[in-house]
Amino acid sequence: MPLPKAELHLHIEGTLEPELAFALAGRNGVELPFADADALRHAYLFKDLQSFLDLYYGLMTVLRTEDDFADLVDAYLERAAAQGVRHAEIFFDPQAHTARGVTIGTVVEGLARSLDRAEERYGVSTRLIMCFLRDQPAGSALATLEAAKPYLHRITGVGLDSAEAGHPPSKFRAVYDAAAALGLRRVAHAGEEGPPAYITEALDVLGVERIDHGLRCMEDAELVARLARERIPLTLCPLSNVRLRAVDVLEDHPLARMMAAGLMCTVNSDDPAYFGGYVGDTFHAVHEALGLGDEQLRELARNSFLASFLDDDEERRAR
Ligand code: HPA
Ligand code: ZN
Repeated sequence: MPLPKAELHLHIEGTLEPELAFALAGRNGVELPFADADALRHAYLFKDLQSFLDLYYGLMTVLRTEDDFADLVDAYLERAAAQGVRHAEIFFDPQAHTARGVTIGTVVEGLARSLDRAEERYGVSTRLIMCFLRDQPAGSALATLEAAKPYLHRITGVGLDSAEAGHPPSKFRAVYDAAAALGLRRVAHAGEEGPPAYITEALDVLGVERIDHGLRCMEDAELVARLARERIPLTLCPLSNVRLRAVDVLEDHPLARMMAAGLMCTVNSDDPAYFGGYVGDTFHAVHEALGLGDEQLRELARNSFLASFLDDDEERRAR
């Protein structure tokens, strides 16, 4: 039996496996610039975050209907459940779809169709986190929050993703203030490619409760001490960090040092269709490459529930 765990850093669009991409392309009459699923998979050689994002946004053209989004979530939940995921807090990128003429209603209703049956079909509880694209103008994020208002009963929180460098958290102060006023929880990617100062800004300016990635905190000892003291959860994604070249090889990943420094670490899959594994694969990989033992793997799994947006009763049941 795989270790029960929660997944807190997962972009649903990043679960689009090449085979499903081709199936949806066929269904929707979309031409993909790859001969077949194998050829597509062979294109997954990234030199940095941007080179990944270019392919990630490009492949989304196959997602057009509510059915497509429901099928995408079903495929993810089936794989995640098989690897011990009992709870998933799922990111989605509305602007990546509305920019291509797919309405936010199509996206949310499609996702929700699968999520509404996730407990019963897969034994996985779920939450949705709507991410703003930080390389788009702040006004576009505000418009996205406005467009999401009819669907807020389905959305637990907001996040911030896409190209980080040059797009500091403070750019999104207004939309995070508005989200907080609507009762939404707040997280943000910070310190993946951006500097440690972005982590501090995400905490102090955006009021986030968790930091997605946060890897580069290790460059600032005072920040590490603060994150440890305040028990700020970090949703690390070691396989993503290798594929996007934040670290050269998994053996160099600072996860073990971060745990030893008292940081509240979780491990997650980020974009598993692109980065070579789902969250159970990630647990296995850090065990092999970093020598994390059973007690440390259990700590990571325990942290994933503690850092989740489940309330105490739900959390106990999920574990
Ligand atoms: N970083 C930033 N934005 C993203 C990522 C990521 O790893 N995956 C999908 N959007
Ligand atoms: Zn991410």
